[in-house]
Amino acid sequence: MQTAEIQRRWLNFFEQRGHTVVPSASLVSDDPSLMFTVAGMVPFVPYLSGLVPAPYDRATSVQKCIRTNDIEEVGKTPRHGTFFQMCGNFSFGDYFKEGAIKFAWELLTTSEADGGLGFSPDDLWVTVYEEDDEAFALWQQHSSLPDERIQRLGKDTNYWSTGQPGPAGPCSEIFFDLGPEYGIDGGPATDDDRYVEIWNLVFMQYQIADVKSKLDFTIVGDLPKQNIDTGMGLERVAFIKQGVNNMYEIDQVRPVLDRAAELAGKTYGAAIEDDVRLRVIADHVRSGLMLIGDGVTPSNEGRGYILRRLLRRVTLSMRLLGVNGPSFAELFPVSRDAMQAAYPEVAENFDFISRVAYAEEKTFLRTLASGIQILDSAIEAAVSASQPGKAGSTGASVDGDTAFLLHDTHGFPVELTLEIAEEAGVSVDREVFATLMQEQRDRAKADAKAKKGQRADLAVYKELRGLGETAFVGYDSLVHESKVLGIVVDGAPAQEAREGEIAELVLAETALFAESGGQDSDNGVIVGDGFEAEVLDVQKPVPGLIVHTVKVTVGSIGVDARAETRVDADYRRGATQAHSATHIVHAALRDVLGPNAHQAGSYNKAGYMRLDFTHSEALSAATKSEIEEISNLAIRSNYAVVTREMALDDAKAMGAMALFGEKYGERVRVVDIGGEWSRELCAGTHVATAAEVGMINLVSESSVGSTNRRVESLVGLEAFQSFAAERLIVQQLAGGLRVPRSEVVSRVEDLSAQLRAAEKKIAALEAAKLAERVPELFAGAERAGSVALVSADLGTVGSPDDLRGLVTQLRDKFGSEPGVVLLAGTVAEGKPVVIAATTAAARELGVKAGDLAKRGAQVLGGGGGGKPDLAQGGGTDPSQIPAALAEMRRTIEA
Ligand code: ALA
Repeated sequence: MQTAEIQRRWLNFFEQRGHTVVPSASLVSDDPSLMFTVAGMVPFVPYLSGLVPAPYDRATSVQKCIRTNDIEEVGKTPRHGTFFQMCGNFSFGDYFKEGAIKFAWELLTTSEADGGLGFSPDDLWVTVYEEDDEAFALWQQHSSLPDERIQRLGKDTNYWSTGQPGPAGPCSEIFFDLGPEYGIDGGPATDDDRYVEIWNLVFMQYQIADVKSKLDFTIVGDLPKQNIDTGMGLERVAFIKQGVNNMYEIDQVRPVLDRAAELAGKTYGAAIEDDVRLRVIADHVRSGLMLIGDGVTPSNEGRGYILRRLLRRVTLSMRLLGVNGPSFAELFPVSRDAMQAAYPEVAENFDFISRVAYAEEKTFLRTLASGIQILDSAIEAAVSASQPGKAGSTGASVDGDTAFLLHDTHGFPVELTLEIAEEAGVSVDREVFATLMQEQRDRAKADAKAKKGQRADLAVYKELRGLGETAFVGYDSLVHESKVLGIVVDGAPAQEAREGEIAELVLAETALFAESGGQDSDNGVIVGDGFEAEVLDVQKPVPGLIVHTVKVTVGSIGVDARAETRVDADYRRGATQAHSATHIVHAALRDVLGPNAHQAGSYNKAGYMRLDFTHSEALSAATKSEIEEISNLAIRSNYAVVTREMALDDAKAMGAMALFGEKYGERVRVVDIGGEWSRELCAGTHVATAAEVGMINLVSESSVGSTNRRVESLVGLEAFQSFAAERLIVQQLAGGLRVPRSEVVSRVEDLSAQLRAAEKKIAALEAAKLAERVPELFAGAERAGSVALVSADLGTVGSPDDLRGLVTQLRDKFGSEPGVVLLAGTVAEGKPVVIAATTAAARELGVKAGDLAKRGAQVLGGGGGGKPDLAQGGGTDPSQIPAALAEMRRTIEA
């Protein structure tokens, strides 16, 4: 049975039983406390917790999910996928335990011919929470399972929550027995390899808080209604129904595995480590495809970092299979083809998805190449430090710091370091590496703890959200009177905020704009009878709730007080100009670069805007000017700005640009500037006609990540002020140089040409002065071992080049004699250098300049090397020059 068929049967079964079919939500969860959608219930949390009334009593979905906490298990067990799909049925105060158990048993055991999933009851086991006698009895009553196949287990497995404050409850899990060849008898209580969990029924009845761990939380009360949340693992059922060994071999995943094996020239099933790598590749490519498809792009933090990590693990696994070059262009299209039956959007957006993925691969391959160089030199150093015959050598070993650096900053797993080192016959100091890793893990843990502390506050906002949605009335009015619904002080609900305190206020309505859609929050004040507060920030911590962070400047504010929100009109005018400027620059960008330049993020506030967009090359100066000119022409043309509210589908039909990966409600606001020229979905504030923007000064263009560029502009009065400031600089330059303004550039060019010529002359003079010392230095040659040696510290010199010229002149004077020249000096910023040169006859005696420079550099606290005939080393400590020269001499004599 194909995966898509199981999905179809699932939705049909529950639709026929009165459930509303709800399409999968994005992998990027709406809930700010969760990085990703981790379970089918995530989009339903507001209904399950009773904060928002559910629009239906029963629902069903097949939800895309990402979980990466078990990333190390991927490929090693049959059932761990970072991306997976959870089939769910939900009841919001409708049926409870009995209904959920009956539905599950019916769907699983109805024959395939009758539309069910056709499991034999003999292969199934269930577990219930140890204190849940009711669930135990219901399974006895509604299934044909013998009592010994209904096992009671503890809180760690049979109590479910998202790990966040919110709804939770005991659960009952259904398992499939793969058979005795997979493990010992005794049911899920004894072995989770042989008995695969396929479906979890959660009986949600409590609200939990103070969540410290899976086992450590406080039940703070009953939910307003008893709810059902279930999750059946689509991949797990698919692998069982398809008669394959694990989830990586199902129809949606296996084709990628096969393609990777083909590229690597490996046979799947031949060697266990290779099999694990192939499964990791197949799993992670699919996760990458789906994540980028939901608008996540690689970065160094948050979701982007998880994506980056997944993509890097693909590249590294390919490498460990022997494929060193790019492979994404071979793997991603295969994953797209396997997934598009269930998710047509991955084919529609493949252009974007593949560009992001391939660019990331390219960057990482470059990083890898430089990491490998570091490792190669560490291996080389390890080998030369352990040459046989040297005292204390115990075989070559790469130090743990280098292994950790490679892991930490170059994304090298230690496995790869070990493998490359092993090939060179070198070991790795694993003990130091392990200590450094442990330290890093401790830091990460401390970090996560700190973050969790902040998150707990969300419960407070969620409760306030329960009082209703905050209405934003600030499009039309900048002053509005309303009522204080809630106050939060120091993260806890309060009845009052007193003079001098920082507090958060929730009002029924507000004229103050909350930061969203790239637009910064409004400045302003909130005033009422006997109090005044300055607005520091306005945010929407949970959807639909506007929270004002204020400092109370006069009096005190109580819950239920009447309060007027007053927007700082000057600030708002600036912010409005900047937001409209963002749309104008976006449209101008697309005029110039074509429709592939998608907006990937923006930020604007009074006087300033920045826009990130998908584009892989830097913009030329001409392109930048063109974008700036088109933007200012739009302002001069005084395009009309029209905002309208409409249904999302109508807006899309009109060609309104939605932000990729952004979520929109049913009703949206469409902002046109110049009709279709700029048509975007946007809830921000905008000018009435383009001329009000005033002026756009595009001040910078730069890169953000491997796939995005950023333009930044000053807007309106700030744009003018920056031009005025530049004019002043040009005036001052012209005055100082005593030329008219139009000649400033050519005058500066002339001056720098003169300066270069003068520097050249000085260098030539210095070189000549040094050359005069050749006879005297040569006369000082001494015997060192079997060669003649000139060794001198020349003190401060212009550059290493000067020294090099002198060294070769001196060496040439030795002619066919065995001669060595060692010169040291101090160059810019007090940096010591040593240069060594050898004649052919000296080299024949085994004296190599490269070795000498390396030894000298070690003494100077740096590194060096080069060819046997000429080499250079540097360091940090010039006082060690005499010691370095002595060490080099000893090396010759040894
Ligand atoms: N929410 C439950 C789970 O993820 C069904 O297991």
